Amino acid sequence: MTGVAQLEPFDPAHPDLITDPYPMFARIRESDPFHRSKPGYWVVSRYDHVREVLMNRKDFGTGDFVENLKLFYGPDFDVMANSGYRWLSDVFIMQDPPQHTRIRSLVTGSLTAKRVRALEPRIREICQELTDAFLADGHADLITQFAYKLPVMVICELMGIDYETPEMAALIAAIPEAFVVFEARKLTEPELTTANRRIDQLERFFRAEFENRLAHPRDDLLTSLAQTGAAPDGLTMQEATTVAIALFGAGFETTANIIGNGLYRLHRHRDQWDRLVADPTGLAASANEEVLRYESSLVAAYRTALSDTTIAEHPVKAGERVLTLVGAANRDGRKFADPDRFDVARGAADHMSFGGGIHFCVGAELARIEGRIAFEHLARTLPAMRVDLHGAAWRANFLFRGLTRLEAHWG
Ligand code: HEM
Repeated sequence: MTGVAQLEPFDPAHPDLITDPYPMFARIRESDPFHRSKPGYWVVSRYDHVREVLMNRKDFGTGDFVENLKLFYGPDFDVMANSGYRWLSDVFIMQDPPQHTRIRSLVTGSLTAKRVRALEPRIREICQELTDAFLADGHADLITQFAYKLPVMVICELMGIDYETPEMAALIAAIPEAFVVFEARKLTEPELTTANRRIDQLERFFRAEFENRLAHPRDDLLTSLAQTGAAPDGLTMQEATTVAIALFGAGFETTANIIGNGLYRLHRHRDQWDRLVADPTGLAASANEEVLRYESSLVAAYRTALSDTTIAEHPVKAGERVLTLVGAANRDGRKFADPDRFDVARGAADHMSFGGGIHFCVGAELARIEGRIAFEHLARTLPAMRVDLHGAAWRANFLFRGLTRLEAHWG
């Protein structure tokens, strides 16, 4: 294939991936579907291939966590001496069965659909409180004043954490700096030092919360997780702390970015905002799915081959790593008609943005409810808002895609 020779090896640190990764995703998907990246792992990008890897629990998993990291840092790197990586190795997203199955079922037993759906009226109230706070100003930064605040307040409500605690600003700031350990690349020394410090800080906070819940049980998710410890295979204090940090961070980081990315897209394709404004109740759920498909806040997932295997007949050796480019799969024309058209009425919920198989996102229901209510509320409350698309600033990370600023004005 001539295109293969011309394609530069995929580099997750490439600056083009920050502003707009989709042209590069398309080049890889169309010209080199089994691509070798610069750090040495395979990159798959077609919908069927991404799905095949994520659904195949027999041949793909986390494998050897330490060896996976040594691929980036070299053989002498002491992975577990870093609290950031020690924490990550214990998060169930990084574990294979049977440990993954055990922890995941304890989490889903506490994070029930009933508990999540019961939050809907409160989510509507929070949306109203947030827009009431800036409506009269005639302008707002939609990222800091709405997109982040909503899911942070919701996850606090669900977990039973006091949103007004003086530590809240530091906890929120700690998440993106700690979650940098998810990026499959060698971190810079300052990045890694900060991530380690942030994980230590989050662990201290959540351990104290659990001690408090064991002494004074309440009707919240933290109490429910803490109480699993009474059963023989329940969560230990360390496991519960690890899970709590993951749920707290995943609970707002990805959802905040979906709301921000959605507002950006809806205004970049202004006719789609106008359609939503004309029918907020009817179109909000479908608009949210289209944002997830078109501009997901998590663009990739990593796996390791657990045995010699194949992806669509392409051989992969045991121990080799594979990056599944979820963002590229979501725009694959073999799956979605006219895939680069942003269409709030498309109604396609079979995108790969929540992953698939045994690691399918445990927060998908919550994220869907929050996104739907947020878009419906904003279309109803601020139908005439204008968004400064040129001033929009993207975060400097590949894996978690989102904005740091999106100014809007009205009135
Ligand atoms: C729009 C928002 C969200 C997106 C795009 C998203 C995306 C994903 C994806 C792609 C995975 C699978 C990763 C893999 O296979 O390696 C995943 C797993 C996970 N998500 Fe989400 N997520 C979102 C919201 C949430 C929320 C709100 C929570 C918590 C309340 C959450 C908690 C988790 C957890 C704990 C896992 C690991 C599940 C497992 O390993 O079994 N996510 N998410």
